[in-house]
Amino acid sequence: MDKTIILNCPVYAGFDVFEHVMPFFGENCLSTDQLFILVDENSKKYCLNKMLGKTAAFDKATIIEIKSGEANKTIDTAVFVWKKLLDFGADRNAIHINLGGGVICDMGGFIASLYKRGIRFINIPTTFMSQVDAGFGGKTGVDMDGLKNQIGLFVNPEAVFVYPGFVETLSKRQKLSGFSEVIKYSVISDGISPDSLAGFDFENEVELEKLIIESIKIKSKIVSEDFKEEGSRKVLNFGHTIGHAMETLSLLNDSEPLLHGEALAAGMICELFLSVNKLGFPPEIQQKINHLIINKYGKYNLERFSFDSLLKLMLNDKKNQNGQIGFVLMEAGGKPLINQSCNTDEVVATLDYYQKLNT
Ligand SMILES: NC(=O)c1ccc[n+]([C@@H]2O[C@H](COP(=O)([O-])OP(=O)(O)OC[C@H]3O[C@@H](n4cnc5c(N)ncnc54)[C@H](O)[C@@H]3O)[C@@H](O)[C@H]2O)c1
Ligand SMILES: [Zn+2]
Repeated sequence: MDKTIILNCPVYAGFDVFEHVMPFFGENCLSTDQLFILVDENSKKYCLNKMLGKTAAFDKATIIEIKSGEANKTIDTAVFVWKKLLDFGADRNAIHINLGGGVICDMGGFIASLYKRGIRFINIPTTFMSQVDAGFGGKTGVDMDGLKNQIGLFVNPEAVFVYPGFVETLSKRQKLSGFSEVIKYSVISDGISPDSLAGFDFENEVELEKLIIESIKIKSKIVSEDFKEEGSRKVLNFGHTIGHAMETLSLLNDSEPLLHGEALAAGMICELFLSVNKLGFPPEIQQKINHLIINKYGKYNLERFSFDSLLKLMLNDKKNQNGQIGFVLMEAGGKPLINQSCNTDEVVATLDYYQKLNT
């Protein structure tokens, strides 16, 4: 299997990925004189040594550590890192390496792109979520006032190196959160069959590597056709209209809030229901996906009284007009349609369906 995906930006993936790092530096005339590695306490603890053992030239890199978690994906953390880079005398030839999950990759790309009007950066994603999704595609940024990714820019890293071996230290919940994006790829594209996902085993290294590479190929191809999400890239938002609203509501109300992928899983069930009713998506495939999702994630307890809050969150999105909410809906397996409007009654009906769904 070809493990190098080069469309907008080179993505190398596989258990042997670190063998590509130094040749890549050489071929691209990147100097290792000033290397900075951004980590959080978990990627430092679980991933840094695994990587340093395999990329000798990184041994003299300067490590910059920030606190983990979405709550720290802020401009204040970016300022903290910019000050560190200045203190260490990083100049425009410095290479900034993001070693961590989606938070580190999103924020680190943003930090590097603005430091001294932009220094080069490399992503080394360490969560399953970032290996199959957040670590590549060019979206970088920070949150603002509790709202996600409000400040940021589209910019590609020089390269992305994906080492599946980092996945082993993630909790089952974190693994499944990323897996939800893979289920999404299996719905919106023909590249991964939903049947192959039911029995997927994270412990099986061959399967893990294969699934990561297939996922990267699917997303990279979509991104390369519409980098700034002006049209076709929106298909990647399937499941996210309702999923994001659930994620936000859960963050506001739950003591142990839903992870992004968990909310997406629920969102996909809802948006498939809309797809069946509005576009004739085949119910037998819907049942298969529902079964897969319920089996892996169970069901989020959606109280009837929160329907209004969910609708408000969806309607507040500036893309929605005149009481209509914009969705990506599925016409058939692998055939998503962007810019599909639904009215609030239709959305309430799907939330109702989700709530009454038998587990
Ligand atoms: N740019 C994009 O296209 C895109 C796509 C999807 C999500 N995102 C963003 O990604 C973020 C979510 O990413 P995430 O799920 O990776 O979250 P995360 O970065 O918060 O990582 C989850 C947790 O895992 C820890 N961790 C990281 N690597 C580990 C390892 N190998 N072993 C053990 N623990 C490890 C982290 O410290 C953190 O506590 C969100 O901010 C979201 O907005 C971006
Ligand atoms: Zn997502």
